[in-house]
Amino acid sequence: MYIIIGKYYYSLQLLLVICEGMWLYMVEIEKVEEQIGEVLGLEIAAQKAVEELSLKGLLDKRGIRGKLQGMRNEAAGHQKKIEKLMQRVSESEGLNQDSIRQHAEEASQKASQMMQTYLGEDPDTLDALEFLCLAEGGEVTHYEVLSEVAKKLKEKKFATEVRSILKEEKEHLKLCTQLAKENSIRS
Ligand SMILES: [Fe+2]
Repeated sequence: MYIIIGKYYYSLQLLLVICEGMWLYMVEIEKVEEQIGEVLGLEIAAQKAVEELSLKGLLDKRGIRGKLQGMRNEAAGHQKKIEKLMQRVSESEGLNQDSIRQHAEEASQKASQMMQTYLGEDPDTLDALEFLCLAEGGEVTHYEVLSEVAKKLKEKKFATEVRSILKEEKEHLKLCTQLAKENSIRS
């Protein structure tokens, strides 16, 4: 079967294959925007979490505050790196930066709500550290997924940077787990 568009005849099958290809491309692009937005939102939320938990006096114990401040600073560095990468890949892959920022905002809000729910009315240091383990575990998982997604992009620097951030995120999770273990006796 043929379809006439203007002066030309097109095979219906060929048009369907083109449309399917375009649709799959759009779905993939949206997925990439969502994944980048989510890691960006989680980095922003991680910084806010350390700041808020500090303000609540939950990280005052010796040896905790300094280490988590270092982790917070690294999260700020990751945020900057992801924002730079976002600009780069938006140009090379045709991503929509507004869509990425919207996903970031949603992820950051969800993480903040989760923290309030997790801490409840009267949290202690162990609750705070356990929440940070949860948050860092979420970051590790999201970067693992983004690292897979990155393999499909033309921009190879993106995958390299994501892998280097993932390595540091694994260290964040290790640090929080270690601190939670050291503070496992509630006081
Ligand atoms: Fe982190």
